[in-house]
Amino acid sequence: MLQHFFNPSSVAVVGASQNPAKIGHDILNNIVRYGYGGAVYPINPRAQEILGHKAYPDLATVPSKIDLAVVAVPAPAVMDVLEQCGKNGVDSVIVITAGFKETGPEGARLEERLATQAREFGIRILGPNCLGVIDTASALNASFAAGMPLGGHIGFFSQSGAMCVAILDWALGENVGFSRFVSLGNKMDISETEIMLSMGQDENTRVILGYLESIEDGPRFMKAAHHVSKTKPIIIIKSGTTSAGAKAASSHTGALAGSEHAYRAAFKQSGIIHAESMQALFGYAIAFANQSLPEGPSLAIITNSGGPGILAADASDRSSLHLTPIRKETADRLREFLPPTASLYNPIDIIGDASHERYEKTLKVILKDQLIHAVLILLTPTAAVDAESVAREIAGLAKDADKPIVTAFMGEKRVRGARKIFQDHAIPTYDYPEDAVAALNAMLRYRQWLEKPEKQYRRFEANTGKVRKVFASVIKQHRHDLIESEARQILKAYGFRLPENRIARTTREAVATASEIGYPVVMKIASPDVLHKSDMGGVRVGLENEAMVEDAFFEITSNIQLRQPRARILGVMVQEMIQRGREVILGITRDIQFGPMIMFGLGGIYVEVLKDVAFRIAPLSVEEADAMIRDIRSFPLLRGVRGEAPADIEGILDGLLRLSQMAIDFPEIIEADINPLLVCPEGQGAVAVDARITIHE
Ligand code: ACO
Repeated sequence: MLQHFFNPSSVAVVGASQNPAKIGHDILNNIVRYGYGGAVYPINPRAQEILGHKAYPDLATVPSKIDLAVVAVPAPAVMDVLEQCGKNGVDSVIVITAGFKETGPEGARLEERLATQAREFGIRILGPNCLGVIDTASALNASFAAGMPLGGHIGFFSQSGAMCVAILDWALGENVGFSRFVSLGNKMDISETEIMLSMGQDENTRVILGYLESIEDGPRFMKAAHHVSKTKPIIIIKSGTTSAGAKAASSHTGALAGSEHAYRAAFKQSGIIHAESMQALFGYAIAFANQSLPEGPSLAIITNSGGPGILAADASDRSSLHLTPIRKETADRLREFLPPTASLYNPIDIIGDASHERYEKTLKVILKDQLIHAVLILLTPTAAVDAESVAREIAGLAKDADKPIVTAFMGEKRVRGARKIFQDHAIPTYDYPEDAVAALNAMLRYRQWLEKPEKQYRRFEANTGKVRKVFASVIKQHRHDLIESEARQILKAYGFRLPENRIARTTREAVATASEIGYPVVMKIASPDVLHKSDMGGVRVGLENEAMVEDAFFEITSNIQLRQPRARILGVMVQEMIQRGREVILGITRDIQFGPMIMFGLGGIYVEVLKDVAFRIAPLSVEEADAMIRDIRSFPLLRGVRGEAPADIEGILDGLLRLSQMAIDFPEIIEADINPLLVCPEGQGAVAVDARITIHE
């Protein structure tokens, strides 16, 4: 896949220059000096020879087939070069040149023309506005980056060329090897998805790293990531996440959504490891590239001081790792050589006067304990310890270890040499314990992802014909918001349980209806124009008798007449009051990049003030729906606190899955809230009390 970009037999550099100040010179120089073994053709109308290679005035004059062309001529000349590529059978082109859609409408038009031409000729394009490509296995550096990384197993792709340059420099400084570097540029043709898939197939790449600002085709990206992440870890840092998209939303779900929720959900659902910072990206990369995954969550910490050990323990407490107590047999073995003041709990504190021998003996014992799945070694440079000797001992033992070992030697001057030893022996080392724990945690989470069973989906019977009819009638009336009775029909068509409900046009009708339904009742304004019923004084709950119903009818209708005089009032809805239910909110919104998203949260202040909500991209699998319920901070409230009966989690799960199916079946639903869904005690289901649905044509 995209083979000519990474392992071409021949490369032409169009715009190669004799002038060392030009980018075309740098690219040719990089191709030549790092040992690329294929044929190299500089293309320049004014030169005979560049960097020892015969130059050609154009692609047509090159005597043999060209697999890859790297283009570094000014923007107006790129179209012409592309035509030459098409006519001369070049199917893979890297366009380094800037000045396209990133510059504004004119550049965008030029890029559009370029894309059309490329499609006509069947040419694949990387860029424009990119740094190029590096593949260490074929010793190809078709970029204008300063330097060539060491060979290794990390593949990196980036939407920002500058980030490629920064990572390359870091890699050179830290002795970290890479398989591939790909600068995506404007992603006119080749996107992150294709690069991810190609790295998935590349046998030299074991870990895929990415820096992204946008994602082109969300569903396709998720599908590809899900596929690749089942064999290789994908670690991505995503910048440029704002809630701008949420501003115009009219529902709760819409207002709480935003691109950050969408991509976080997408990453989670497709197995991508999300790096929150550049530091985390680097930190995870070296751990994944150099260590085996932990078999389980049990972490042992070895330290020569209390403070860093506690920091690491705290970080581990916040993660999925467990600091399990050291079992007796292991503790007995440690006791044989550790001083009586050492702590044999976990963290294992071998105390301040520990020498490299004490570290070595302790690590040896810990590595033998099969109940421990990962080891973190901490050191603070006391006068008693020679950090480099400790590093050497660790490196010696790590070679045959069957569990991951990471290190955090705190300080700078006195641990610099030790860090270098770790780098040379591919042992992940971090400046601070928290970073080391975060890397191990990412590895554990990835292992759990690999062990997850195939996603299971539930399909429900739904009266889609009825839904289509309601939507058609709403659109015919030039409306986008469904009134409550319409929303109820939609929910009913999808099998939601609804409270009994009838419209009363007079006080007398309201009283009669209430006694038919049975007290207590809820009353709500019935109007196509009142969206925020409670805010407008259009809702009364807990009405126990005739007098209360009469008063409520009067109050509700007067409130609306006063606060929204233009609203059409159809009457007042009298509704069965569900008791002993806990209020939750379920919703649908649409993300520009990923499509339908489902939201879940507890109702009331939990959603409005605390914004304690979880999002996932639809369609939801059963496991994803369950995970999103458990994701919210207030989940313990649903399980029941202080003797309360637990809420019916299965009822929420069922609601989320039905809503997810609805979102997929009807792309015209742009926003929907079921607010509240009243969740009864365990085993008694849930009732959709109120819903708001917005559609477009
Ligand atoms: N065929 C072959 N050679 C050509 C052609 C052509 N059609 N047209 C021009 N050339 C030659 C020129 O003769 C020149 O060679 P010479 O120096 O021997 O005369 C060479 O191509 C370059 O042309 P120049 O007009 O000198 O253009 P220059 O090198 O100044 O700029 C460049 C070209 C680098 C592509 C520029 O337009 C550009 O886009 N720069 C920005 C690149 C960039 O930043 N990309 C994103 C990187 S990612 C990041 O941000 C790190």
